[in-house]
Amino acid sequence: MMINIGVLVGSLSERSYSQKIANYLMNEYQSVRFVQVNFEILPLYNPDFEKEPPLEWQVFRSVIDQMDALLFVTQEYNLSIPGGLKNAIDVLSVPSPEPHIAYKPALVITDSSGERGGANANIHIQQLLRYIGMTVLNEFITISNVHQRFDPQNRLLNEQVAAQLNGSIRKLVESIDKQH
Ligand SMILES: Cc1cc2nc3c(=O)[nH]c(=O)nc-3n(C[C@H](O)[C@H](O)[C@H](O)COP(=O)(O)O)c2cc1C
Repeated sequence: MMINIGVLVGSLSERSYSQKIANYLMNEYQSVRFVQVNFEILPLYNPDFEKEPPLEWQVFRSVIDQMDALLFVTQEYNLSIPGGLKNAIDVLSVPSPEPHIAYKPALVITDSSGERGGANANIHIQQLLRYIGMTVLNEFITISNVHQRFDPQNRLLNEQVAAQLNGSIRKLVESIDKQH
């Protein structure tokens, strides 16, 4: 059975390095069905709307429901995760305390153009995801100096980073297999 991994990329930029990392992984693993799920059209979370949830929330929630696991690839903004991604997680966190994404495995990868590779954002999002009940892999993947990691053809240049990314996806797939 084909495994479905939902991919949420923190950046909305057309030139996003987070997207390049996600693309690298999505191309590398042909045996897995990666489904990138965009969140930029989601209305900002407001509990008052739950009586009649916006169609965008309903579609987003039901696509995520069908995923076996989630992969988060995000840059750091102001020592945390970008607002759009936080909003998407807020939308997925309802109903509480048993949101429908509870127990799904999640892998987090952060990046930044600085030396720390989005370490703070990584810690923040892991905390958020654990709080809403996801099974977050104990990995701490922070890609520093991300703007130096790809060549003009968008090929990943650094073998160490490639090995780290590949290893982490393998662990994510294994954690899904264990659940099934
Ligand atoms: C509003 C804003 C805030 C940022 N804050 C941080 C930060 O706190 N730490 C950091 O290392 N880089 C920070 N950066 C740099 C981004 O991490 C870097 O530009 C990254 O490549 C953007 O991701 P993207 O290429 O996927 O869009 C910030 C960039 C912007 C535009």
